[in-house]
Amino acid sequence: MITLDLTLPDTRYPIHIGRHLLEQVELLLPHLPLPKVAIVSNETVAPLYLSRLQAALEAKGVQCLSVVLPDGEQHKDWATLNLIFDALLANRCERNTTLLALGGGVIGDMTGFAAACYQRGAPFIQIPTTLLAQVDSSVGGKTAINHPQGKNMVGAFYQPRAVVADMSLLDTLPDRELSAGLAEVIKYGLIGDAGFISWLENNMAALRARDSEALQYAVKRSCEMKAAIVGEDEKEHGVRALLNLGHTFGHAIETGQGYGSWLHGEAVAVGMMLATAASAELGWLARDEVERVRRLLVAAGLPTRAPRMPLSRWLELMSHDKKVSAGAIRYVLLKSLGQGVIHANLADTLLQKILDEND
Ligand code: NAD
Ligand code: GLY
Repeated sequence: MITLDLTLPDTRYPIHIGRHLLEQVELLLPHLPLPKVAIVSNETVAPLYLSRLQAALEAKGVQCLSVVLPDGEQHKDWATLNLIFDALLANRCERNTTLLALGGGVIGDMTGFAAACYQRGAPFIQIPTTLLAQVDSSVGGKTAINHPQGKNMVGAFYQPRAVVADMSLLDTLPDRELSAGLAEVIKYGLIGDAGFISWLENNMAALRARDSEALQYAVKRSCEMKAAIVGEDEKEHGVRALLNLGHTFGHAIETGQGYGSWLHGEAVAVGMMLATAASAELGWLARDEVERVRRLLVAAGLPTRAPRMPLSRWLELMSHDKKVSAGAIRYVLLKSLGQGVIHANLADTLLQKILDEND
């Protein structure tokens, strides 16, 4: 097991990465103010892993309540969030009951938001079960639900007490979901580590074959980069915005096409392709670098072609992006491969060109 630390001005927490950690509840126990937890999971993950976690906790005298939500991005909403509050209240959970998020990014984001709100703040721990959640969403304290008009529009910055990423849980993850997680892994290379891009090019086949050493290195490197960026800029006043490479376009795809029709990682992959193409249009990247990014995404099993929507619809959707400032849409682009940059406003002609060339 590897343990990284995320250090913030007011807190610090461990990110444990390894195999067979689910039942090692000694990783959780020091973070529980009371021997009582609410495990939040979904209808897909709970039958696979909930009883093992619950039995291990109960063997240590921890009282467990479980809350099993419907599965899917389309359920990341108020009505489903409320099911968590209903269960906590019906079971007389006090503010010191710890919420455990056992699932992918949807469960992690909703459980974190529920913890931020419940009695004005209950402790929570992330136990991410997808690659995407292990490399990105479980770390850094962004929690949210979707709004019909925009992705993750209602939420809070609220940090977990610990992250326990058990990589053996990825054994049951469908291949398409593994690829979706690889999109966020590739993101770290593109925004900040050219050497990691080369490593990914050389190791993509091993990653897709679930070679445990390769996967562990990818998760570790991703979490190191995320912890360093969040440690510098928890509330996204600056450098943290780079973690949104591909997300301005990607969130527009998810909202515009209907939550759940594209996987988040797939939409981000197309968004990164569009951001790369826009960077080339601005003269920052060469054409062969754009094709290099496309090859890497394709090798990861990801789409690179955007769905057809009129430019006016893209602009309307992107106007709800959280990076919009004084009405200007701010994009994450690439000054070079391995160097992300924030850039406000892209000309409509440029946007139309990259959309036409990548549909
Ligand atoms: P997800 O949570 O929907 O999980 C993907 C699918 O895999 C689901 O059907 C789930 O039930 C299933 N699953 C999960 N673990 C499994 C396992 N071990 N075995 C078999 N099936 C399993 O999707 P995701 O890709 O994990 O997360 C996407 C969400 O994360 C989006 O809502 C996105 O906005 C959010 N996100 C948040 C942050 C953040 O910083 N908070 C960062 C990136 C993404
Ligand atoms: N996934 C973007 C962030 O955590 O800032």
